[in-house]
Amino acid sequence: MSEEPTANGAGDDDTGNEGVVRRERFSGGPARGFLSSLAADRRIFAADLAVDRAHVVMLAEQDIVDDGTAGEILTALEEIEDAGHDALPDGEDVHEAIETAVIDRVGLDGGRMHTARSRNDEVATCIRYRLREDLLDAIETTLEARGALIETAEAERETVMPGFTHLQPAQPTTVAHWALSYERALARETARLIDAYDRTNQSPLGAAAFAGTPFDVERERTAALLGFAGTMDNAMDAVSARDFLVESTAALATLATTLSGLAEDIVIYANKGFVEVDDAYASTSSIMPQKKNPDTLELVRARAGDAAAGLNGLLNTLKGLPRAYNRDLQRAGGHAWRAIDGVSEATEVAAGAIATADWNDEALAAAAGEGFSTATGVADALAMAGVPFRTAHEVVASTAEAAGDDGDFEALDAAARDVLDASLTEYVDRQTIESALDPGQSVASRDSAGGPAPEAVADQIAAARTDHDADSDTLAERRAAIADAVESLQAEVETYV
Ligand code: ARG
Repeated sequence: MSEEPTANGAGDDDTGNEGVVRRERFSGGPARGFLSSLAADRRIFAADLAVDRAHVVMLAEQDIVDDGTAGEILTALEEIEDAGHDALPDGEDVHEAIETAVIDRVGLDGGRMHTARSRNDEVATCIRYRLREDLLDAIETTLEARGALIETAEAERETVMPGFTHLQPAQPTTVAHWALSYERALARETARLIDAYDRTNQSPLGAAAFAGTPFDVERERTAALLGFAGTMDNAMDAVSARDFLVESTAALATLATTLSGLAEDIVIYANKGFVEVDDAYASTSSIMPQKKNPDTLELVRARAGDAAAGLNGLLNTLKGLPRAYNRDLQRAGGHAWRAIDGVSEATEVAAGAIATADWNDEALAAAAGEGFSTATGVADALAMAGVPFRTAHEVVASTAEAAGDDGDFEALDAAARDVLDASLTEYVDRQTIESALDPGQSVASRDSAGGPAPEAVADQIAAARTDHDADSDTLAERRAAIADAVESLQAEVETYV
């Protein structure tokens, strides 16, 4: 072990380790608990150990600490990891507690671990390191949900159902078309999370307190050892920036908002008897024995409120903070952790509820034509036969007014005589009108790209599968990059211990 006071100036002295408990100067009073984030830092315990290891390996490679000392520190870190977060000594945060635990084992030379860094760059690196994993797990849940929706679309390609606007019957569509509408939205949620991941995956380590360090640190090296794609250019930005938390939390809140709509649809469809949620995703009443309620989806819907609140809390915590580090930042992470846990869980539950839902074809088919929902198709048929669309609209509108929901050929013909001064058959044959009035044929006729006709849906399913595969590959690549880094860091550590 080297004895020169090179790094922290911690040479041999006869005061034992007492001299290193320096923060007692300020943080020993009644506000100690208020200042401490140690309990909440459990979430970044493993991240901090990885960051410590990468930093110590780099310090040794740069001859900032000697190999022997590095070995002792790295050995201590292994023991600390084995003992777990609960065994840490008291401290203001996990960074301080781990350092104290290292010094307890190694002696004053353990204090060399904190050479050329600060808790400011350390904590920012730990949060990014941990959030990466959580984001990848969240991305995986979106892929699960998309997979379940694609399978639903495949199975229910021809299942005609009513489509709604303003919650009123609007036009017939299919369950597949409905499912793919959410799959497409979730594909964008996946993309937003991947974007957030890529901006999170940058290393602040080596920025020190905010102003750099005179030591000859190799920031690219610690970044690579920790699996980061690169380093943050500016040291002041590196310790101050939490926009990666905002972006990640915003992506999660957006995802939760999309899921809340899906959950609401299923709650409504269950109410109408269109779909039955599997028992595993339902709940009953403590008093009304007959009840089967889609509670899981109601809770999915509610998680959007939690996530939006988290985003709001985070933005308000960050608003107006001056450069560079301020302790407010200690309160930032919690918003993001709660959002990622809450929304990932909701996404998994939604995926399971979709995958196991039982669609009631008959109830859907019966409801598909209700409320004269084929009216638009009849107007389209007249317009295709040469009647100006606005005039065709009027023929059908006056039919709806006169006949209500029972807009049949006779009612349409009467309206045509009124509006067009001619029989309907002067424009189209009866068969064309009958077909436009049939919900299934109405769906089949709408084969424009993105439409509900089974062929159009088949194209959408194929595109969704292609995107799902590509995003799965991206997820696997990101995971592999982290796994490689974990392995190579461990291999480096082993050369010292
Ligand atoms: N625990 C702090 C955080 O989570 C890091 C400590 C930095 N403390 C300081 N006084 N500069 O942000």
